[in-house]
Amino acid sequence: MALDPARPPADPPALDHGTRLLLDEVELPPQSRVLVVDEPLLADQLSPDHQVSAFCDRGDLHACLPAGVARVEPGMPADASVALLRLPTSLDQWDEYVGWAWDSGVQQIAAVGREKDLVHRLNDVLGRWFGEVHASRGRNKHRVLHASLPHSQPRVPAEARWPRRALRDGLTIVAHGGTFGTTRLDAGTRLLLAQLDEILVDAADRSRPLRVLDVGSGNGTIAAVLMRALPSCEVTAVDLSWAGAAATGETLRANVAPGHPQPRVLWADGIEVLRESEPFDLIVSNPPFHQGVAKDSAFARELLDEAPSHLAPGGAFWLVHNTHLPWLPLLRQRHPGAERLAQDRHFSVIRVPAPTTGASSSPSTVRRMPRLGA
Ligand SMILES: C[S@@+](CC[C@H](N)C(=O)[O-])C[C@H]1O[C@@H](n2cnc3c(N)ncnc32)[C@H](O)[C@@H]1O
Repeated sequence: MALDPARPPADPPALDHGTRLLLDEVELPPQSRVLVVDEPLLADQLSPDHQVSAFCDRGDLHACLPAGVARVEPGMPADASVALLRLPTSLDQWDEYVGWAWDSGVQQIAAVGREKDLVHRLNDVLGRWFGEVHASRGRNKHRVLHASLPHSQPRVPAEARWPRRALRDGLTIVAHGGTFGTTRLDAGTRLLLAQLDEILVDAADRSRPLRVLDVGSGNGTIAAVLMRALPSCEVTAVDLSWAGAAATGETLRANVAPGHPQPRVLWADGIEVLRESEPFDLIVSNPPFHQGVAKDSAFARELLDEAPSHLAPGGAFWLVHNTHLPWLPLLRQRHPGAERLAQDRHFSVIRVPAPTTGASSSPSTVRRMPRLGA
């Protein structure tokens, strides 16, 4: 996705079938106030003729929104009467977006999705906030959900609004609609954190504050547990999804002990953060194996490839993964010290020690791991 505001491409990237359908189905008078969600090319297309506010859950896409578009985030009032969206795959994320639009005074919503992803519950969510809801006939395997006539009061109890909080194992966990697992403790994360005593051995004997990174921090459980167990550690947590990064920030704020160094929470790509940071003593992750609904392990493979070379001497990289994935043999090709330290019916926990002095490779010399199935 190239939306560099400084250098507009000579041939703008083509809009896909869904975005074109959305444009064709909604008539916008000139200078309309429009909120555009998860449709960066549409925001670009509309911005010269309309007052556009926009948001993309993916931090890399949000950062590339063109100049002239007001960048907003869920929960911030968006100055808009119409909202145009790409339907998210999570009903909870959809609920948060629709509630945000309603809070912002939006009178009309149009959201495009692929026919195969459209389920009635998406309309039910809209019906909690708007009086008139219908789906268009669509085109090219896409349809648009339309809603108008906002209710004077939403049909949603206050406790069901996002973000939500829950108490789990003594921690307050905060989640937005699109946060992985919402406020639940993921089963893989639970197995990883069951190894906390061993993880803490890797954190012992430092003459300076320990530097800890949680990659793909989601609702912030891992970062919060490490902060609680390591009172003076410097925590960085990163998630590419706003719903993850925002939830992590709120979870850490809810649990941080007075006087603990403030955590650094980043809405960004985990690999970029690794490359731009000083080495870490502990890198801990329950990495993603999906990108949205698509099974895409590119990020996880890149993380396995790079993380050990961003460890300080004596540090370790801990991760949990679905046992059927061949991560351990892949890791061992470059990091012979990688070992499986726990396993249950579904998940495996792996520890990779920092390369011994001199063996660490700079990111530019890192050999890419083979693609799965290649
Ligand atoms: C399996 S979830 C784990 C979430 C959380 N750590 C937990 O244990 O519940 C993986 C997380 O990685 C995030 N993610 C996906 N791609 C990423 C990337 N390129 N950089 C950083 N985080 C990413 C997802 O948004 C998701 O929150």
